Amino acid sequence: MNVLVTGGAGYIGSHVVEQLVKAGHKPVVYDNLLKGHIDAVSEDVQFVEGDIHDFSFLKHIMGEYEIDGVMHFAASSLVGESMTDPGKYYYNNVAGTMGILDAMREVGVDYLVFSSTAAVYGEPKTVPITEDAPHVPTNVYGKTKLIIEGMLADYAKAYDLRYVSLRYFNAAGAAPLGNIGEDHNPETHLIPLVLKAALGKQDHVAIFGTDYPTKDGTCIRDYIHVCDLATAHVLALDYLIKGGTSNVYNLGSQNGYSVREIIEAAKKVTGKDFSVVEKSRRAGDPAVLIASSEKIKRNYIGNRNILISKILLLLLGGGIAPTPMALQNKVPWIYN
Ligand SMILES: NC(=O)c1ccc[n+]([C@@H]2O[C@H](COP(=O)([O-])OP(=O)(O)OC[C@H]3O[C@@H](n4cnc5c(N)ncnc54)[C@H](O)[C@@H]3O)[C@@H](O)[C@H]2O)c1
Repeated sequence: MNVLVTGGAGYIGSHVVEQLVKAGHKPVVYDNLLKGHIDAVSEDVQFVEGDIHDFSFLKHIMGEYEIDGVMHFAASSLVGESMTDPGKYYYNNVAGTMGILDAMREVGVDYLVFSSTAAVYGEPKTVPITEDAPHVPTNVYGKTKLIIEGMLADYAKAYDLRYVSLRYFNAAGAAPLGNIGEDHNPETHLIPLVLKAALGKQDHVAIFGTDYPTKDGTCIRDYIHVCDLATAHVLALDYLIKGGTSNVYNLGSQNGYSVREIIEAAKKVTGKDFSVVEKSRRAGDPAVLIASSEKIKRNYIGNRNILISKILLLLLGGGIAPTPMALQNKVPWIYN
């Protein structure tokens, strides 16, 4: 199948592209490279530099490459920034997705796999969180993804669209070969931050809040390995091709790790000590976010429990960033 992958030069998109190729699909990466990295796209994969807001170019590319389905990762996804610059988020996420849906409709592309987020739930009343839990996002980023999910449901009812929306919890890890990995700028995710601290590339790691009602007072999050997440996307596409109906699924591991546990695991795996600064809570950070994986297990993908130490080992083996330095030096640079 010919699959347009918007945001395919980014962290998650680049890992999904690798697995699409392995599964025999033909991905076409469509990315404006504002946050993505050209080095993260293999030379064997078709790359198109373009913006999802460029409606006529998007339609042209869908037609030229005879696209059958779209995987849509391109988005703005910094929670804090979404509160200070909401316009950017409604434009890039909501308006951008609407352009993709309308281009698909005009060209006749019927399948979509969409990157949603646990942020659509806000502060959960119970954990593990099931898909039908209340949707009360506490930030604009989560709100934009929820609006998009509503749009997808309406388009699917009225037009030929069939879609799977995957609500990711915390994506982590990197491809085992080390050719691609996580390289956000700015980086806000805990695992790359602790590894950077272990490498001496930043002088400390901050813990935001040590008085949460959890076992050690720090927030608990559900981490899913990016390669498992990528597999789920390929399975979601297969499910749609085989006639599966539009649906929404959590993508997590149904396991939680506290911020302190991640820090301790990083120190143990790397053998490096680094300083940890305790700060006050950030607004809108729920105490515990753990996915229920029951629905996706029942429907089309097995549950996989990923141990955090395995994630850290994979990170160490694979590098954390598709930067030229990481690409050139692969494994050894992480120990410098
Ligand atoms: N990383 C996570 O843990 C996580 C968790 C939940 C949801 N998500 C969602 O997954 C998706 C991918 O996240 P990521 O961590 O890989 O982010 P990322 O920033 O690494 O990748 C996003 C890619 O989209 C591209 N892009 C953004 N706006 C674009 C536009 N207007 N036109 C063309 N390209 C554009 C960027 O250049 C980048 O390559 C996002 O939709 C995000 O909201 C991520």
